[in-house]
Amino acid sequence: MNRKPFIAGNWKMNMTAESGAKLIGELKPLVKDADCDVALCVPAILIPAMTEAAKGSNIKIGAQNMHWEPKGAYTGEIDADMLKEYGVEYVIIGHSERRQYFGETDETVNKRTKAVLAAGMTPIMCIGETLTEREGGITEKVLSAQLETDLAGVEDVTKVVIAYEPVWAIGTGRTATDEQAQETIAFIRKKIGELFCPKCAEKVIIQYGGSMNAGNCKGLMAQPDIDGGLIGGASLKLDFATIVNYNK
Ligand code: PGA
Repeated sequence: MNRKPFIAGNWKMNMTAESGAKLIGELKPLVKDADCDVALCVPAILIPAMTEAAKGSNIKIGAQNMHWEPKGAYTGEIDADMLKEYGVEYVIIGHSERRQYFGETDETVNKRTKAVLAAGMTPIMCIGETLTEREGGITEKVLSAQLETDLAGVEDVTKVVIAYEPVWAIGTGRTATDEQAQETIAFIRKKIGELFCPKCAEKVIIQYGGSMNAGNCKGLMAQPDIDGGLIGGASLKLDFATIVNYNK
């Protein structure tokens, strides 16, 4: 399986141009020999300054959201051209915080995902079950429904990065066990195989996200179906470099 691991940070609504540039400056030498792809998805307003800060390094600067329309009367939104102007390659789509707090639905996740692909960028499309859903034994049903709608009409699924983020593990310090994460991500891969083709599913990068940190990254990354991580809290500090260097 020739999937290149991919570790991405999600700064969420944190950092300033000054603190962000300082952190990137410190991370650069620490991650330069990484065997994986590395990205930091930063608040939209910081994209120009962080792109400048990351210049000449292997750290790609990504975005945390994007609207599906090319332009227009959508106050507060960001379009594809605005991101591409700064060389953005990755855009997080459908993070559970956007679903929970900002009315994001599987239908809008689908529209955004297709728009990111049409613009030639890579969506990091987030899916995941809540604690009630996991305890109710309907995790697979929930993930299947998300995948069916979120990926509907996508032509080349191998261009999508999937982030499996159990909602109960995000920002809680409660990580899925290696086995839980592996089992669920293997299920996601199987489902993608059914929706598209098994060969395509083998090529799709699937990250784990949810309290992944310097201490648990090795175990998670050792799982055969886990191809990387989407890192929230730990991407705000130098621990991010330890995660990127999980295999060293
Ligand atoms: P966390 O966030 O690592 O702080 O749990 C992960 C995410 O929400 O992407």
